[in-house]
Amino acid sequence: MKIFIDSADVNEIKEAINLGLCDGVTTNPTLIAKTGRKNAEVIAEICGLAGVPVNAETIGISYKEIITEGAELAAIAENVVVKIPMCKDGLRAVAYFAERDIKTTVTLVFNVAQALLAAKAGAAYIAPFVGRLDDISSSGMDMIRELVEVYDNYDYETEIVVASVRSPLHVKEAALAGADAITVPFSLINTLFAHPLTAAGIEKFLRDAGHK
Ligand code: E4P
Repeated sequence: MKIFIDSADVNEIKEAINLGLCDGVTTNPTLIAKTGRKNAEVIAEICGLAGVPVNAETIGISYKEIITEGAELAAIAENVVVKIPMCKDGLRAVAYFAERDIKTTVTLVFNVAQALLAAKAGAAYIAPFVGRLDDISSSGMDMIRELVEVYDNYDYETEIVVASVRSPLHVKEAALAGADAITVPFSLINTLFAHPLTAAGIEKFLRDAGHK
């Protein structure tokens, strides 16, 4: 399973790359706003850090706006993936970009019907949001299991990038479900390395070896 970083913070992304944990990057308007910088400027800098797919999201929701913004984002670097919110005009734009070999991610996916439409439109990736479903007492991971099954049924090549990830349990369940990738906030990375028995074991080995 690929691990993407869900961040627009260049330092966080650099650290993830150094850890070997950056198969891709996802940004969104909220993450870009936190940087206080311009979208195009941040995306260009992230694209230069590693040759991995970098998701840059369009803001407008009309077909014309999405096409215009998406083309501008795609022109920034070869590894830009244009991230487009799930909506009718958005999926028309996905088809437009697919015809021109520009990769897209359909974001804000919350059920199988939306995922099917995104795949049929030619999306390279979808971003189903598990945490936000859990927040409203629905099971985000049940959705992921369904999406994996449905895409397998029809051999769709669209990759499932599990998004809105909040815990190591999400990471485990995404891998068990066979998702193609998961995009994790940087704050979660440290918790993925940790286990209390690992910490206790290292402590004991250090003590026994006379290092403490
Ligand atoms: C994914 O592409 C989104 O940027 C992100 O995972 C949203 O996560 P949130 O629900 O924690 O904001």
